[in-house]
Amino acid sequence: MIKINRNYLKLPENYLFSEVAKRTQEFEKHNPQTDLIKLSIGDVSRPLPSVVVKAMKRACAEMGQSKTFRGYGPELGYPWLRQAIANFYQQFKVQLDPDEIVISDGAKSDLSNLLDIFDTALTVAMCNPVYPVYLDTNLMLGHKVQFFSANIANNFLPLPNEQITADIIYLCNPANPTGVCYQRAQLKQWVDFAREHQAVIIYDAAYTCFIQDADLPRSIYEIDGARECAVEVGSLSKMAGFTGVRCGYTIIPKNLRTADAVSLLQLWRRRQTTKFNGVSYIVQRGAAAVFTPAGLKAVQQNLDYYQRNVRLICQTLDQLHWSYVGGEHSPYVWVRCPGARTAWECFDFLLKQTGIVCTPGSGFGSAGENYVRLTGFNSYTKTRAACRRLLTLNKKMH
Ligand code: MLT
Repeated sequence: MIKINRNYLKLPENYLFSEVAKRTQEFEKHNPQTDLIKLSIGDVSRPLPSVVVKAMKRACAEMGQSKTFRGYGPELGYPWLRQAIANFYQQFKVQLDPDEIVISDGAKSDLSNLLDIFDTALTVAMCNPVYPVYLDTNLMLGHKVQFFSANIANNFLPLPNEQITADIIYLCNPANPTGVCYQRAQLKQWVDFAREHQAVIIYDAAYTCFIQDADLPRSIYEIDGARECAVEVGSLSKMAGFTGVRCGYTIIPKNLRTADAVSLLQLWRRRQTTKFNGVSYIVQRGAAAVFTPAGLKAVQQNLDYYQRNVRLICQTLDQLHWSYVGGEHSPYVWVRCPGARTAWECFDFLLKQTGIVCTPGSGFGSAGENYVRLTGFNSYTKTRAACRRLLTLNKKMH
């Protein structure tokens, strides 16, 4: 008899962004005349920097010549890419051994796959609202989940409390979905808490590229003690437009060990070499080009472009007197639904009245009810059009 993993039956029917896509398609079917503007999933719209494209083309040509052709690469990533990432972290005064960096096909896979190296009877703690991948992947494995709430009372930046007894604590900074960012001293509280309780922090750094203020931490390893308790997951998706190319990395410090001295890095390497054959040579060459001076300059231009969109969204919300947080160091703006609508009601309302697709906050957890998330990842032209449409709602929403 076929036996399934019954934990899957406890999940919502669809992954949040699949549900948004499904409802959007349904709307499009019945309203083909509506020109939709998607400010929903955090998917980039700027093309890859030309320096990245050139590097990938060169790599492609190498693959077509017998002298330079390559088969399986090193499963953990080519040394030159790991070195390039280690060098990149030096600007934040973070010293990494390239051996502590493991290249992957993106943060989403790593955030989920990391659970393989931990006990099956696990308790995890995460924010509510939260990036649904953390929750769904833990539910799939039947783990116990504790939540700490991000709300107006704590400025959407929850700090550790003694109710948290988890083995693993997820932190995303700047946060998805709220777009807010911890100060160094606040992050230090989490690091101290994790060390004191012998917990591991899984730190999702996918959005750190949006931090403009040098006083804010760009890596958890800027915080004293983090090397003893934190795993950092990085991504080139939002930073360099790799959502469709796929490349990310996980950093596990060599001295991050369990109480009985087992190295987490050792286990992760064992997991990856067994279950993963590495990211393609072509993609890794493109990724390495991101970390060159020309690559970083081009990447920054794209980030500035998205940040201009986010500023426009925030200005529009100010004009509408809608309350929101985020947007300053993030592509995301977390908007309180006007008119006391639920998140899905607000989603439907915006879709029908303006053709704007947002992400309903309740999809990120119960604390996201009455909120929606907007992103600055669309083109400037479309973002501007969306803002104009929003302004026409001024009267209708209240
Ligand atoms: C989001 O929109 O929250 C993310 O971009 C989705 C993802 O990265 O998987």
